[in-house]
Amino acid sequence: MRMLLQVLVSVHLITIIISFVFIAQEAGASMTKPGCPEKCGNITIPYPFGMGKGCYLNRNFEITCNMSSNPPRPLLLQEVQLLQISEDYLRINDIVHHSCFNKQSGKTNSSHVPYNRTHHFSYSHTQNEFIAIGCDIFAYITEDNSKTNATGCASLCNTDEDIATDFSSSACSGIGCCRTYLQTDISRFYLKMRSINMITPIWTSQPCGLAFISERNFSIRQYFNLSSKFLERNLYFVPAVLDWSVGDVSCPEAIRRKNYACGQNTYCHNSIQGQGYKCHCSKGYQGNPYLANGCQGTVSSPFQHFLYLFFLPRGNIAILLFFSSESLLL
Ligand SMILES: *[C@@H]1O[C@H](CO)[C@@H](O)[C@H](O)[C@H]1NC(C)=O
Ligand SMILES: *[C@@H]1O[C@H](CO)[C@@H](O)[C@H](O)[C@H]1NC(C)=O
Ligand SMILES: *[C@@H]1O[C@H](CO)[C@@H](O)[C@H](O)[C@H]1NC(C)=O
Ligand SMILES: *[C@@H]1O[C@H](CO)[C@@H](O)[C@H](O)[C@H]1NC(C)=O
Ligand SMILES: *[C@@H]1O[C@H](CO)[C@@H](O)[C@H](O)[C@H]1NC(C)=O
Ligand SMILES: *[C@@H]1O[C@H](CO)[C@@H](O)[C@H](O)[C@H]1NC(C)=O
Ligand SMILES: *[C@@H]1O[C@H](CO)[C@@H](O)[C@H](O)[C@H]1NC(C)=O
Repeated sequence: MRMLLQVLVSVHLITIIISFVFIAQEAGASMTKPGCPEKCGNITIPYPFGMGKGCYLNRNFEITCNMSSNPPRPLLLQEVQLLQISEDYLRINDIVHHSCFNKQSGKTNSSHVPYNRTHHFSYSHTQNEFIAIGCDIFAYITEDNSKTNATGCASLCNTDEDIATDFSSSACSGIGCCRTYLQTDISRFYLKMRSINMITPIWTSQPCGLAFISERNFSIRQYFNLSSKFLERNLYFVPAVLDWSVGDVSCPEAIRRKNYACGQNTYCHNSIQGQGYKCHCSKGYQGNPYLANGCQGTVSSPFQHFLYLFFLPRGNIAILLFFSSESLLL
């Protein structure tokens, strides 16, 4: 009994806390494969996109940098001018479809234009809108060459002045200019424009129309010069937003494949298109999820790594007990 008391009294509880200090990863880790150029002009090109052999995931993500422009311009698929690459979207400078009506017949000479991108790049239905500018026109897009799943709008005018009026109010409400939304993401479609002879044929004074997909809320006035005959100019570009993804299959299948594109500490997310996928860094990690070791840990909590040491001396016998904070919680 006395012995037990003595033990209890002489128990010295010493807690030594050892914390492992983890030095946060240096910020600004590379977004490209080693030895690959980071930028074209002032635009950062993160992997899986890349410039030069061995720097991109596959040909769909090859970027060519046009050094003859000032500043140099990155091109996707050899032709689409890139404005920005983010983890979620690509912002591109897209060509505007232009159609003119024959003054005798009222028919257009180019009634449909196919847009044929790969499924890796689709126009985002949440970030874009469809706009048509002109008088007495109906512009629409279809997924194939039939009339299924069409999206479009009609723009009428009474006078040439109507276009300028609808522009200045930014309404684009169907008099000189009309806008509508996309129902789903699309990567392949036909864009068509027709003259609607509902009212006195206008095409004699305004024989051309423009139609395009553009990013939402962009300033129409900033991109089109409203001086007379601006509809007859046939080279305009507007900013548009593309969703992008890698691979040809969805996550469960992709993960099993040898060419799975996501690095360590990542998770896979199915593409909105139903074909292909995207990679994201797991919680607590950040960086480029497409590089093998792109996702690096952010500062970890030192409390996770505490060690508690209990020292129980009894005569010349010392009992040392070690616990990590995790085992104490068990
Ligand atoms: C690149 O430079 C242009 C012109 O100076 C600027 O408008 C644009 O916002 C810049 N882009 C990026 C991604 O910094
Ligand atoms: C590269 O830029 C120059 C100058 O802007 C232009 O003339 C040329 O067509 C561009 N090349 C490509 C492949 O777009
Ligand atoms: C259509 O007509 C316009 C104006 O007459 C012309 O500039 C354009 O090149 C023509 N397009 C085609 C595909 O013939
Ligand atoms: C669109 O591209 C696909 C695959 O690249 C091809 O099979 C198809 O024929 C193309 N369609 C048109 C209308 O060019
Ligand atoms: C467009 O503007 C509206 C109203 O200002 C805003 O609610 C919406 O988020 C904007 N859309 C985009 C894609 O920026
Ligand atoms: C049209 O849309 C429906 C539902 O959104 C879809 O099931 C169908 O495949 C689409 N048709 C074509 C030709 O893509
Ligand atoms: C618009 O076009 C007119 C006539 O072609 C030209 O004088 C003017 O500089 C242009 N304005 C802009 C902002 O491009």
